Amino acid sequence: MVDTTTSTDSTPSETEIPDYPFQRDLRCPLAPAPKVREVRASAPLSRVRIWNGSTPWLITRHAGQRALLTDERVSDDDRIPGFPYVNAHRAAIAPHTPRLITNTDAPEHTRLRRMVNAPFLVKRIEAMRPTVQRIVDGLIDDMLAGPNPADLLTAFALAVPSLVIAELLGVPYKDHEFFQENSNKVLDGALTAEQARQASMALAGYLAELLKAKMASPGKDVLSEMGERVTNGEMTFEEAVSMGVAMLIAGHETTATMISLGTLALLQHPEQLAELRESEDPKFIANAAEELLRYLTIVQTGVRRVAKADIEFDGQLIREGEGMLFELHAANWDEEAFPGADKLDLHRPARTHQAFGYGPHQCLGQSLARLELQVVYGTLYRRIPTLRLAAPIEQLAFDHTGTTYGVRCLPVTW
Ligand code: HEM
Repeated sequence: MVDTTTSTDSTPSETEIPDYPFQRDLRCPLAPAPKVREVRASAPLSRVRIWNGSTPWLITRHAGQRALLTDERVSDDDRIPGFPYVNAHRAAIAPHTPRLITNTDAPEHTRLRRMVNAPFLVKRIEAMRPTVQRIVDGLIDDMLAGPNPADLLTAFALAVPSLVIAELLGVPYKDHEFFQENSNKVLDGALTAEQARQASMALAGYLAELLKAKMASPGKDVLSEMGERVTNGEMTFEEAVSMGVAMLIAGHETTATMISLGTLALLQHPEQLAELRESEDPKFIANAAEELLRYLTIVQTGVRRVAKADIEFDGQLIREGEGMLFELHAANWDEEAFPGADKLDLHRPARTHQAFGYGPHQCLGQSLARLELQVVYGTLYRRIPTLRLAAPIEQLAFDHTGTTYGVRCLPVTW
């Protein structure tokens, strides 16, 4: 519960914890950092020291995150001093970044989100199931026809979200290769920042041209819908292009990571994988996707906010201008919300997880991500029943610094 009264005590009584983000235990690569459990058990709110020396609040409990993420004094505006940026690069670009759904509060956020909400509603996304199934089947055919062993990430996982989003935006088939290649470059950690920037510019330029073409001759896709809103004066041309790029980037690495890391988690739990492979029950497959989202909680930078006013919360005073870090893994492994949280259990009711965040900024693309994961988890292991790791888990390299926690390469054989 969030108390609306303001405390008179100006000194936080908590002790500050250095070295955030916390280190994971490399022997248990799928579990959150052990320190997370310790901090969550000791207090609902703690202060942590981050890269720039500031000490934002760390919120670890499931219920506490829900209360604060729906409090209108909690802001997503990254121009407010005190916002806890992920790194120096993000801090440097924040003042120059256009105002998007990802960095605005109501009422601006509500206006922008309304512009793009309709295509992501469950019913419209569900209508895409046959298309997503066709894309997934085609990519599995390609992988089976290619080299064995293969890297599941590049041979399959990265291609699923980029082909699906291309479909949703209305990218013509002839341009798919350009689209996919540049989407991959934006996320390829092996390339330089300049190469990634060029790929992102190429995509923005491409989407701007495509938007113009859709405005002249609309189709039944998201870009055409946004084009109509531009024509009606509801959103600017630049906002529509930025939204297209944001959808592409936000949904690409995240979904690909859930496919590769989800597969790794299932290969580590062969009995549950066998049950999933043999199941014909769409509800069980959908729940398995929720449980994998909860268990893996791949967005490792969490959700970040700043207080717009003083907030008294659980006996502590969060002052105006103080940063807040919502550690999603901590909430999703909170025993009070998910008893036996450290076990993967595909039968557990997991839908209340916070892997997609919570509150007004909760993931716009969650229905789409769910659909993609349900189709992949319900198809891949059935089509390739002998799928297994082609290298010991100890030899896999995990990404500890990016927005999402995942494997850099997942060698598989069949
Ligand atoms: C498994 C896949 C995904 C995960 C784990 C994920 C996770 C998240 C999280 C945690 C947030 C909340 C950020 C915050 O509150 O600050 C978010 C927001 C967002 N996501 Fe996703 N996401 C996924 C897939 C997608 C897809 C497929 C799309 C679009 C096609 C997408 C588009 C967005 C957008 C536009 C926002 C910003 C919403 C807003 O600020 O109002 N995401 N996502």
